Amino acid sequence: MRAVVGTNSWGSALYGKILRGSAVNEETLKETIDQAVKKNLLVFDTAQDYGLGKGQKLIGKLCPEQIQISAKFTPSTKHGYEFGQVRRSLLKDLQDFHRPYVDFYWLHLPNEIEENLSEMIQLYHEGKIKHIGVSNFNLEECQKAKKILDAEQIPLYGVQNHYSLLERTCEKNGLLRWCNENAVTFWAWAVLEEGMLIPPRQNEKFTIMKFVFEQERDRLYPLYKEMYLIGQAHGMTIAQIAMSYVASKGIIPICGCRKPYQITQLEQAAETILSVSEIRRLEHITNLIDVKILHTDLFRFAVRK
Ligand SMILES: NC(=O)c1ccc[n+]([C@@H]2O[C@H](COP(=O)([O-])OP(=O)(O)OC[C@H]3O[C@@H](n4cnc5c(N)ncnc54)[C@H](OP(=O)(O)O)[C@@H]3O)[C@@H](O)[C@H]2O)c1
Repeated sequence: MRAVVGTNSWGSALYGKILRGSAVNEETLKETIDQAVKKNLLVFDTAQDYGLGKGQKLIGKLCPEQIQISAKFTPSTKHGYEFGQVRRSLLKDLQDFHRPYVDFYWLHLPNEIEENLSEMIQLYHEGKIKHIGVSNFNLEECQKAKKILDAEQIPLYGVQNHYSLLERTCEKNGLLRWCNENAVTFWAWAVLEEGMLIPPRQNEKFTIMKFVFEQERDRLYPLYKEMYLIGQAHGMTIAQIAMSYVASKGIIPICGCRKPYQITQLEQAAETILSVSEIRRLEHITNLIDVKILHTDLFRFAVRK
């Protein structure tokens, strides 16, 4: 697997419009899925809240059997652990997906790690989960999760955290090295920084993301310029260079796709490895401009003390 299809903006038309400025219909999503099958991008990532709860149902309705599903258990941020919460949530997911098991299942936040993982372990033994991963965990929390799983002789499959050209904390705090040393796969979410690693399009409609992050746009232009030049050398767009950058680090990019061309571009980008000097040029500029859009600790506020 070289890349994963993100489905955050699938589902509710209202959600699509507010988040991304426009919605896509089921026909377009079906064409997107067909293209993914054609390009052998067979893993789709989702969670219960994507598309205001409608994203998962659409995956269940539209995706053929060969698509592997990556789903998540999101612990409550308000109240503590309640026995059976993971099982109830997963059974609802499986109903949405019309499947007997899920291929990848992530603990979405490091809340009540022992309790939630012990339920996931039981569901793994029952064959309802094929791979267990953790998401938005720091190094210490990953080590804790691995120890719990090791005791049951279950591999910690992966860590799903934020990583992009603009957000490389996991390289600096030892998490990525630890993953590599322990055969734990790293999936990166928001490799396009919610659209900010794509230069603005003409007549772009209002979106929440644009409203929140637009003030950073001017500072990104030197980076766009370098990405454009490197893109020219590979026959790729600026957005694709953001994807290739992540893939070139041995990290699996999860990219939000809802149109067929995005699948085609993601596949090409994930297959393209940038040279050491291209990576250096990109990192030199990101270090100089020091722009942060989404932080690696974006969801820390939701972690219960
Ligand atoms: N584990 C977690 O906590 C967590 C958190 C956030 C996200 N995720 C996962 O990561 C995935 C990716 O994040 P995301 O979807 O929020 O944002 P993203 O991938 O960073 O950005 C999506 C934006 O990029 C645009 N785009 C996609 N492919 C493009 C291409 N080839 N050329 C130009 N623009 C392109 C989309 O355009 P359009 O608007 O035109 O479609 C959309 O506006 C999510 O879908 C989700 O599966 C996980």
